[in-house]
Amino acid sequence: MCGIIGYIGKQDAQSIIINGLKKLEYRGYDSAGISLINDKNQVIIKKTQGKIANLESILNHKDNGKIGIGHTRWATHGKPSDINSHPHVSNNAKFSVVHNGIIENHEELKNMLVQEGYSFASETDSEVVPVLLEKYNQGNLLEAVRKVIEVLQGSYALCVISSDYPEEILVVRKESPLIIGLGEEENFIASDIPAILEHTKKIFVLEDDEIGVVSAKGVVVYDSQGKLVDKKLVKVNWSLETAEKQGYPHFMLKEIFEQPGAVRKTLAGRIKEGTVNLDLDIEVDKIDKIAIVACGTANYAGQVAAYIIQSRLRIPVLVNFASEFRYMNPLVDENTLTIVISQSGETADTLAGLREAKSKGSKILTITNVLDSSIPRESDYVIYTQAGPEISVASTKAYITQLIALYLFILDFGYRKEILNKELVASWLSELEAVPEKIEEILNRSEVLEGFAKNIKDAASMFFIGRGLDSVSCLEGALKLKEISYIHAEAYPAGELKHGTLALITKAVPVMAIATSKKLVDKTISNISEVKTREAITYCIAFKNVRDIKDVDYLFTLPDIIDELAPILTVVPLQLLAYYTAVLKGNDVDHPRNLAKSVTVE
Ligand code: G6P
Repeated sequence: MCGIIGYIGKQDAQSIIINGLKKLEYRGYDSAGISLINDKNQVIIKKTQGKIANLESILNHKDNGKIGIGHTRWATHGKPSDINSHPHVSNNAKFSVVHNGIIENHEELKNMLVQEGYSFASETDSEVVPVLLEKYNQGNLLEAVRKVIEVLQGSYALCVISSDYPEEILVVRKESPLIIGLGEEENFIASDIPAILEHTKKIFVLEDDEIGVVSAKGVVVYDSQGKLVDKKLVKVNWSLETAEKQGYPHFMLKEIFEQPGAVRKTLAGRIKEGTVNLDLDIEVDKIDKIAIVACGTANYAGQVAAYIIQSRLRIPVLVNFASEFRYMNPLVDENTLTIVISQSGETADTLAGLREAKSKGSKILTITNVLDSSIPRESDYVIYTQAGPEISVASTKAYITQLIALYLFILDFGYRKEILNKELVASWLSELEAVPEKIEEILNRSEVLEGFAKNIKDAASMFFIGRGLDSVSCLEGALKLKEISYIHAEAYPAGELKHGTLALITKAVPVMAIATSKKLVDKTISNISEVKTREAITYCIAFKNVRDIKDVDYLFTLPDIIDELAPILTVVPLQLLAYYTAVLKGNDVDHPRNLAKSVTVE
């Protein structure tokens, strides 16, 4: 998804912006560009389709401006191309703009501007912004920006520079994140934190409709009424190290291996004397229904929670993909607690789902990894996961920490509602505290999964089968494999195979069976026999000492844990299997094709 970086100060803007763009690569992009105001007071623009390395190859190292903006684009309006890349420039070449989001009324604005004699080089919605700035400029950049946003409909994070105003960068946002990083006689702008982390940990988070005037000397922020805003300084506690690879070949592998630490951090301070301490003042007695809204991997964490809420708390629970939930007229009301799960806190569909639930009177509990992002800011209650920055597009440590946060919530909520007793809560909590070592034990055997990956790398399709909570883990395992290895994978409840999909099982289709449920393991074993009979090569993830499971072709055993917590452990070998398969296929593991880390458009 698109990324923004901006710089103004005493250093060479070009190198700071290029480094910042590299830190944004993980968001997924198809083109990149940079714009500077050079010492001759000209707006310089360099942009190109493809990787940042392509952009670097066309830079002129004599372009030594002290002010500039950069962008990584993920095409929405207009195919990936040099001309559609950002920054975009006004007809008089004085205004340069980068934009994240979508200008919904761009057609109408373009028609109006064309009639007035302006022209457009690109097919993008974004190009209307610099052209409008040229039209509205009357000697004050802040005023020109105000006039432009009055006519824009849609979502935007905008960063503007102009040769008429070489001492300032103007920034404004609506429904698309933007932060301002504070330095000494220099300031930074970014769409997300890793881009500027090496320069500063002090940031302002821009709110919707706020306009920031950023100069080397300082930052002034105005609200939509033009009043000065006293911005709260946010101190970021992520270290630069955690946002870099530290010797791992890929961010994904690093993040898989960071999971024990991420679980410890997510639990830290939240367990006190056998009870949960989340500082949530939810009026539990009022709640008679739970809705869960999320996309992708976060949705699968939600499906695990829904299963347990239903089976243990006996509370009706509705779980859906945010892109569906937002349009389904969901059955939520003021007695519903809606749990919104999002690693980035910025996913557009998830935010829309949140707003839909809120409009029906539901209270919102968000589980997110990114401090002060849009989703927690619109929520009533928040549980922050402490995964640290997740750079790889395929989510790993965010998923595990979402599960941990959800288990903590279920235990807290169930206890306060007097559904779960103290003994049960204490026993689950002590099991949760033992999870990091159990993950470490699995990680120590990662070469076993590398071996499995060698077998499956040439398959065109693979099945993941399981029952109960195992069938939810199958969804995440199949998604991981699809995302990065590009092998088609199908997750299926094991008992459902015989109702149609068994027709697809042949010796060319490997089958991964997950069989952690002690109650259902015999049933899953029967389903394994069904696929073995059709000559499938079988893989299985199960606890040690399970009778008959030896019959599978390849077995990976898990350390023991109570059934309902098994999804936390099960996912680790599935992540490693997907990772090693993608590596063996030579794929770009951290930046899979067509995917973005943070999807801020519908
Ligand atoms: C994108 C990512 C997925 C992620 C999903 C939800 O599609 O590629 O890995 O699970 O968005 O993201 P969120 O930040 O809301 O958890």
